[in-house]
Amino acid sequence: MNMERIGVKEGNYHLSNYDKTYQQFDWDEVKQAFSWSRTGKVNIAYEAIDRHAENPMKTDQVALIYSSPDREETYTFSDLKQSSNQFANVLKKYGIEKGDRVFIFMPRSPEFYSAFFGILKVGAIAGPLFEAFMEQAVRDRLEDSEASMLVTTPELLERVPHKELAHLKQIVLVGEDDNKEGSFIDFHEEMNQASKSFDVEWVDLEDGMLLHYTSGSTGKPKGVYHVHHAMIQHYQTAKWVLDLHENDVYWCTADPGWVTGTSYGIFGPWLNGVTNVVVGGRFSPENWYKTLQDYEVTVWYSAPTAFRKLMSAGSQAIEPFDLSKLRHITSVGEPLNPEVIVWGLEAFKLRIHDTWWMTETGAQVICNYPAIDIKPGSMGKPVPGVVASIIDNEGNELPPNQMGNLAIKAPWPSMMRAIWKRPEKYESYFLNNWYISGDSAYYDEEGYFWFQGRLDDVINTSGERVGPFEVESKLIEHPAVAEAGVIGKPHPERGEIIKAFITLNEGYVQSDELLDDIRQFVKKGLSAHATPRELEVKDSIPKTRSGKIMRRLLKSWELGLPTGDVSTLEE
Ligand code: WT7
Repeated sequence: MNMERIGVKEGNYHLSNYDKTYQQFDWDEVKQAFSWSRTGKVNIAYEAIDRHAENPMKTDQVALIYSSPDREETYTFSDLKQSSNQFANVLKKYGIEKGDRVFIFMPRSPEFYSAFFGILKVGAIAGPLFEAFMEQAVRDRLEDSEASMLVTTPELLERVPHKELAHLKQIVLVGEDDNKEGSFIDFHEEMNQASKSFDVEWVDLEDGMLLHYTSGSTGKPKGVYHVHHAMIQHYQTAKWVLDLHENDVYWCTADPGWVTGTSYGIFGPWLNGVTNVVVGGRFSPENWYKTLQDYEVTVWYSAPTAFRKLMSAGSQAIEPFDLSKLRHITSVGEPLNPEVIVWGLEAFKLRIHDTWWMTETGAQVICNYPAIDIKPGSMGKPVPGVVASIIDNEGNELPPNQMGNLAIKAPWPSMMRAIWKRPEKYESYFLNNWYISGDSAYYDEEGYFWFQGRLDDVINTSGERVGPFEVESKLIEHPAVAEAGVIGKPHPERGEIIKAFITLNEGYVQSDELLDDIRQFVKKGLSAHATPRELEVKDSIPKTRSGKIMRRLLKSWELGLPTGDVSTLEE
């Protein structure tokens, strides 16, 4: 097989002429798809749910198929409209207003979606938190956002330091309140009393709707702020890239605590009115193949780390299942290895389409489309209506085949509009009207982009973005740890794993128990995915004269690479 290029399969695709569309497309064309282009009344929740519920042809269509080890339920657009109206009424009752931050910290469940759309319907800003976050991670986000309300479960409540959060006035508990001290709002009780009708709060396209916290190489996680306007790009890319059609059954494996799980686990599919599959519980190849088979999934969005796990489970894992309904597969989060694409062709008889974007871009930016050839290893070409390029450090565009900063011409519809409360941080992303991604890449003569790596120290482990600073800060909170330097180390299945170098405080000696205790400490404080898989004790951690940890040097040592310029190294 020619692995340089995998040609297009015949089909009726949304983006059937990429080149022409790229040259002519204008985002204004998309506006007609939304009711606000006629009514002037904007709310993304209305467009994603109510608009379909008010359409006699769609109102009883299944919007959500929810499946977890102990629940299996379906909800129509009409059901979701009513339940989110109920929650919006609960929010109103407790004084939540437009612009307030309401966070949700719970596993994927039907209640999650009622709460999420309820928040948007009152014009508040939703902050979904990944269920695996531990106390420090939860605290940082609630503190920074000054969230006034949190929706969580009794099980997760112990990770919420609610008495120490001055702004957090109210907590809604989804599930039995087992005599938890304090006064909590009972989700089910309130929902039962709440009316199923609600007048949606109309907002401006540029009003806030979502905060996603994400990591950089320095400092605490930052609140990436998105506005209702993003719906234009969610909607259109879900057509072009996910190739969603009216009767599709779509499955996005990402949790809504991450941007993939909101932009394409919620908005993309529902703005397009398709049936959306949500699966709780743990990953196993059998469960995943069974999900694809049982719900007759047609379009699937997942991540390289998952594909690699499926690949290593071998073809015997897939054989018992009938996946004949599946017609389109897409991937995001990390580089998609060409060998995974080869495996996909064999296992599913389908191409896996890589897509590149970030929390900050809000929606897909550089992608492989069903109607263009795939060059395995390439992220594809820019979404029509978005200009991507490679620039040097002065902000000048570079010609083909030269590596530089992967940059996007600002603005585009789904671009973040702020970093919460940190205007200078937001400004620092831009150079000459280019948004600087922090990734290095090049493009070839045909306009395909090729990912080369991160330019900063951000770690990408199993597709999840981890800031080394956060992990280092947690490590040095442990009584035994004096200093810490954290890097990403290449790993065949997870992309990268977290490796930490530490020095020990006086009086502590290295032992397996101690190292394990330190790992557990990070796991309990931050989250499992931010826990160093490898921990190495050193006599000192290399730092610059100004005291910055030289992670690059740690990485070079670890990987046996040349150390480069070490002139700033402290004596
Ligand atoms: C970083 C953004 C938005 C999706 C989830 C990740 C890396 C993302 C790819 C890809 C190579 C990729 C980049 C990017 N990344 N997609 N297709 N190929 N790298 O969002 O957590 O904001 O992370 O993930 O390094 O900058 P995120």
